[in-house]
Amino acid sequence: MNTSDFNLAISSLEGSFTKTAFFETIGSTNDVVAEWVHQGVKGMCLAAAGEQTRGRGRAGRTWQSSAGNCLAFSLLLDTESYINQESNVLGLAALSTALAICESLESQYGLKPEIKWPNDVLLDGKKVCGILPETEWNGDQLRSLIVGVGVNVTRNAIPTGDVLNFPATSIEEVLGDNVDQSKLFFSIVAQIVKKKMRTDLIKESENRMAYKDQEVDLVINGNIQTATVIGLAADGGLRAQLVDGEQRVFYTGEIQLRPHAK
Ligand code: BTN
Repeated sequence: MNTSDFNLAISSLEGSFTKTAFFETIGSTNDVVAEWVHQGVKGMCLAAAGEQTRGRGRAGRTWQSSAGNCLAFSLLLDTESYINQESNVLGLAALSTALAICESLESQYGLKPEIKWPNDVLLDGKKVCGILPETEWNGDQLRSLIVGVGVNVTRNAIPTGDVLNFPATSIEEVLGDNVDQSKLFFSIVAQIVKKKMRTDLIKESENRMAYKDQEVDLVINGNIQTATVIGLAADGGLRAQLVDGEQRVFYTGEIQLRPHAK
């Protein structure tokens, strides 16, 4: 995405945000928004970048965002929507963002994206989008909720070399066509904003869940356990049945989910 893509998209989102900014190059858009929070900025905010030099992924991984090839942006979300969900704010924020992205890719391009619990969007079983939700708390008060989104748009968005921990793809690779990045960005952000408080989150996310009723490997503290994905708990946790028949709910940070290695 570039400045004109951003400006065009933002002109149609007038009134949704108290602060917006686009950076040709920045460290991490999540860090920009966190800095705004520390400066006292309130309400919904949006920072986007062409290129990130210190893009962050989950679990301390890096996230590469190269100019013109991807969407990289972060939103400061309205904490009110999540205030009664403090037990799993990160999980619910990731799910609602992933669901909005799936709905946008489906309505814009007729694609069939899936949610790989808890934070990824897949196309054809490969990762096309990663989501990094981050919270700050004042005791038990949720101070800020930032959701960072990285979408692989062109084939060149996919890092080369041995840096991927899961197979990746891009929208253009799956579509076999060029994508208008401004329209894509507008559609995703508008869907996130429009659907921020939804009662159908768990049901709709479950309908789009990758590996539902299938065997997966759950990496729990470095140990791999085979399990069958059942669905989602009411608070967005992963419901799975272990091989001994025990059903459990897992939460973000506790496990990683992988296709079952046969
Ligand atoms: C993951 O899959 O590990 C999450 C990747 C999240 C990447 C986005 S790009 C915009 C925002 N800024 C960052 O530094 N990270 C997120």
